[in-house]
Amino acid sequence: MKTPIFKNLPVAIRRADFADDFVWGVSTSSYQIEGAATLDGRVPSIWDTFSTTPGKVRDGSTGAEACDHYHRWEEDLDLAQSMGLNAYRFSIAWPRIFNGVDAAPNARGLEFYSKLVDGMLARGLQPWCTLYHWDLPQYLQDQGGWENRATIAAYLQFVEVVTRHLGGRVRHWITHNEPWCTAMHGNWDGMHAPGKRSLPLALQVCHHVMVSHGRAVALIRAQVPDAQVGIALSLHPIRAASDSAADQAAVQRHDGLRNRWFLDPLYGRGYPQQVLELVGDDAPRIEAGDMDAIATPLDFLGVNYYFPEVVRDAPEQYPLRSEIVHLAGRERTAFGWEVAPQGMVELLQRIERDYPTGPLYVTENGSTYEDHVSADGSIADVQRRDYLIRHLAAMRDAIAAGANIHGYFAWSLLDNFEWAEGYLRRFGLTYIDYATQERTLKHSGHWYSAFLHGAQN
Ligand code: FCB
Repeated sequence: MKTPIFKNLPVAIRRADFADDFVWGVSTSSYQIEGAATLDGRVPSIWDTFSTTPGKVRDGSTGAEACDHYHRWEEDLDLAQSMGLNAYRFSIAWPRIFNGVDAAPNARGLEFYSKLVDGMLARGLQPWCTLYHWDLPQYLQDQGGWENRATIAAYLQFVEVVTRHLGGRVRHWITHNEPWCTAMHGNWDGMHAPGKRSLPLALQVCHHVMVSHGRAVALIRAQVPDAQVGIALSLHPIRAASDSAADQAAVQRHDGLRNRWFLDPLYGRGYPQQVLELVGDDAPRIEAGDMDAIATPLDFLGVNYYFPEVVRDAPEQYPLRSEIVHLAGRERTAFGWEVAPQGMVELLQRIERDYPTGPLYVTENGSTYEDHVSADGSIADVQRRDYLIRHLAAMRDAIAAGANIHGYFAWSLLDNFEWAEGYLRRFGLTYIDYATQERTLKHSGHWYSAFLHGAQN
């Protein structure tokens, strides 16, 4: 008799299909889970400001409490360990480490992450540390945030302090999570903090973030001799809405800003000429040495994959003359994101074909669906389980075909504060009852755990 988590699986898959040293993780981020927003010297981040501004977050919520991970981190790491994971990706809240310009590092903030890292190591979880997952200190935003070049120096100071404290214990470093979102959602469409709406501003922010990334790579290597340093990019396979030549050309333009704008400079090719021409005077100001800094070689590339984007030619749209469309009849998550495991394979293979990336890691992948708690307290999130299984199977096939993929991090261990959607979207393998903070592993989490413990299905 099969247990419910093993009933009607879309495809057979086993951990033994992957290399023994494959990295199996979950991803989290500080603002989305920690809570304790005013404790131990933490100062506000741009997300505290943004989420307390009426109308910015769909359910009017904030990360002030979130999953209260700041107090419950031992229970959360126990859970990760019990699932059979061997890695845990987390991020450092910069406003816990520095609470003002020219301030000394905050020992209590450092202490929290020091304990957290020790907790991971004690549980056999390899720490993967993201240095910036969007929670910029508000005092820096008050001075222009990432638009201000001085923020690069402030970031490097933060990186220096964190790597000095944790470098002996943390080997895997991710400089930035999804610079696209930092720059474009934060400053172009205004959906994320700090909520600005200007393309030239977004491109300047993006440039400064990328320069800070490159400088940080060199700094981390200097501080942590055996460091493995990378960046986590949100990338999408871009598909045409039709076979028309116009739509195919739109794919090229869209890909130029969505993907190549990041990959080309990271691998020494500068910003794509096609996009520079399209944005004209809105292009960022670049100083001598910037492009060399951005091209500092990486040890690995982190890819956050969620869904493909479908675009069509739209001559009236500035600057790309393209537009994202939602074709009917596609399988989608509750967020409306297309479910396309093959898209992940396509994307990873394309990146490897076009760029000398070295090892690739899927640093985020996951789905949101409406969860229902049954009378017996279980959460039968079959769709999320199947999303996970189908993406792992696609990854296995890609590796068999030669892809250089060495690890996979599911988004996310816990339901959490999903940015502009607040708590309306649950991405966790673990259900959070926000009234009690009780954690319950969903079917998807039970399946992942059984898979990691070597179950056959
Ligand atoms: C990614 C973010 C992550 C989470 C997932 C759903 O873009 O990196 O924090 O919000 O989406």
